[in-house]
Amino acid sequence: RGSPVVLGIESSCDETGAGLVRDGKLLGHAVASSMAEHARFGGVVPEIAARAHVHSMQSVVDKALAEAGLSFGDIGAVAVTSGPGLAGALQVGVAAAKGYAYALDVPLYGVHHLAGHVAADTLEHGPLPEPCMVLIVSGGHTSLLLVRDLVRDPIVHLGDTMDDAAGECFDKVARVFGLSYPGGPAIDRAAQSGDPKAVAFPRPLTAPRDREDRFAFSFSGLKTAAARWAEKHRAAGPELPVADGAASLQEAVADVLTRKAVAACREHDVRTLVVVGGVAANSRVRSLAQARCASAGIELRVPPLGLCTDNGAMIAAVGDLLVRSGAKPAPLDLAVDPSAPL
Ligand code: KG4
Ligand code: ZN
Repeated sequence: RGSPVVLGIESSCDETGAGLVRDGKLLGHAVASSMAEHARFGGVVPEIAARAHVHSMQSVVDKALAEAGLSFGDIGAVAVTSGPGLAGALQVGVAAAKGYAYALDVPLYGVHHLAGHVAADTLEHGPLPEPCMVLIVSGGHTSLLLVRDLVRDPIVHLGDTMDDAAGECFDKVARVFGLSYPGGPAIDRAAQSGDPKAVAFPRPLTAPRDREDRFAFSFSGLKTAAARWAEKHRAAGPELPVADGAASLQEAVADVLTRKAVAACREHDVRTLVVVGGVAANSRVRSLAQARCASAGIELRVPPLGLCTDNGAMIAAVGDLLVRSGAKPAPLDLAVDPSAPL
C-alpha cells in the first residue's frame, strides 16, 4: 500500500506541467510550453499563456501517466500551483486540478510555486537537509530563502530583487544583443566563445555601503549598462562583439548571485545551498557556485536541468510531502493567489 500517487499540476506562467510522485520518487512527468507563441512579443503574454494551458492540460496529464505506466484511476491525491503567477494561467491549472480531484474523489492541495522549485531537488537528491539556503533564480524571481522545514515552517525571505529578476535581465539584454528569445540560454551559448573579463559590468548591491541590502538584488542597472555598451559599440562600427558582451554579463550575474548566496549561508550557519529556477541552468552560475561552495565547505545541490525550469513534478513533490506529513487538504473552492507571499 504505502502513500498515494500524487498528481502535480503547474500552470503559473508559460509551461503546462504534470508530474506524478509517490514517496519522494518521480514516476513520470511531462511539460508543454507556449514559449514559441510568445516569442514575437519578447515576453509572456498572459492571455495567450492561459489559452495554451487549456489546450495542453489533458495531454500533459496523459503523457505523464503514460511515462509512469499508470492510469487515471491510480491517482490518489492532486496538488496544484495556486500562486504566485499569472492570474488567468493559474486559474486554468486550479480548475483542472479541482476537476480531477472531484472526479477521483481524492484530496486536493494548493502549492506555492516557489516551494515547488525548492522541492524539485528532492526528486533527484533525496530529502532536503534542513535548514538549507535556497537561491531561486528565474524569469520571475530572484530570492534568497532560508528553509527550516519546507512543509511546516514558513520560508524566510532574506532578500529579493528590487527590480528585474536575473532571468529577465538575461532575456532583455539578449534582445538588445539581437539574440533569440528566451535570452538566458542564448546568452549562455554566446558566452562560451567570449571573454568574461572583456567588459567590466557593475556588481550591483555588493559594495560595503550596501550592507543593509546585502541579500537584496538589483539587475536593472546591469541591463542598462549592457544596453549602453551595445549602443557605444554599434555607434563605433558594424560588429557588436556579442560573445564578449554575453560572457561579461553572465560573469557579473553569476558573481553577484553566488557571492550573496554563499555569504547568506555563512551568516546563517547553513551547510547546504540549493540553486533552483530556470537560471540555475546557466553554465557559469553552476560552475561559480560549485567553486565558491567548495571553498566555503558548503554542499551545493542543483536539480537536473529538466526539473530546474517550471514543471509539474516539483508541484507533485510538494504535494507528496504534504500528504505524508498529514497536512489538511484544500477545499474544492481553493482560490488562486496570483501575488501569494511566501
Ligand atoms: O523557472 P523558469 O522556467 O520560469 C520562471 O521564470 O518561473 O525560468 C525561466 C528563465 C528565463 O528568464 C530564461 O531566460 C532563464 O530562466 N534561463 C537561463 C538559462 N536557461 C533558462 N538563464 C541563463 N542561462 C541559461 N542557461
Ligand atoms: Zn518558476
